[in-house]
Amino acid sequence: MQVIILMGAPGAGKGTQAARLSAHASLAHISTGDLFRENLKQETALGKKVKGYMESGNLVPDELVLDMLFDRVSRKDCAAGYILDGFPRTVPQAEALGERLGDSVELLALNLEVPDDLIVERASGRLLCRGCSHIHHAKFSPPKAEGVCDNCGGELYQRKDDAADVVGQRLAVYHEQTAPVEKFYGAQGVLKSINGVRSPDEVFTELISHVPAKEKADG
Ligand code: AP5
Ligand code: MG
Repeated sequence: MQVIILMGAPGAGKGTQAARLSAHASLAHISTGDLFRENLKQETALGKKVKGYMESGNLVPDELVLDMLFDRVSRKDCAAGYILDGFPRTVPQAEALGERLGDSVELLALNLEVPDDLIVERASGRLLCRGCSHIHHAKFSPPKAEGVCDNCGGELYQRKDDAADVVGQRLAVYHEQTAPVEKFYGAQGVLKSINGVRSPDEVFTELISHVPAKEKADG
């Protein structure tokens, strides 16, 4: 079983690359941010609890994240492994994942490095699909027709937490609470740093140099 952790600041390109890596390695793509946004949309009890944290750019408390994540990765599509996007974001989350996985799992943490000034531009131009969560950017990967997803024809929207003041808070939280997770995996010898300041294709080429391609098994 292989578990790949895609790390990096908000807007570093985790979601963009995780979707491609998922197809390349035939591993499920699990984004805690997408799971929370789905709960917000469905107005579930969990969605109501996490709304305030997300909209202010703060982290959701560890216990709420862990229950949701461990429930998701216990599903059948994760049996051969999975790609984590946006998790773990605190050292306690990383420790809880380590305890759950034990020693038999092949763990790889790929860290997309992008400086803060570029992050703001990426977040402010991001366009997300309501239908399939495909990610566009108004300047860097514009849709063919304005407001319409290239992938499924769904409606594109801007995330509330991509407003400039909230991005600033997300970055501050990232440096304070998530940067230590890089040290945690560095000390375990499983961390690879990737230069994220290149085109999505170039970033992907480097990422897959660390991840073997795999055909999807039938059934
Ligand atoms: P989450 O949804 O995970 O947001 P994030 O980590 O802030 O990351 P983003 O989704 O903003 O960025 P990304 O790295 O995926 O970049 P993308 O590929 O979209 O989390 C949201 C919230 O949920 C958190 O703030 C928190 O409240 C909560 N949460 C989630 N997980 C949690 C956890 N584990 N613990 C606690 N709370 C949690 O790219 C960004 C833009 O740039 C796009 O427009 C894209 O097209 C463009 N782009 C991508 N790559 C390139 C490139 N190489 N060149 C030019 N443009 C590019
Ligand atoms: Mg994302």
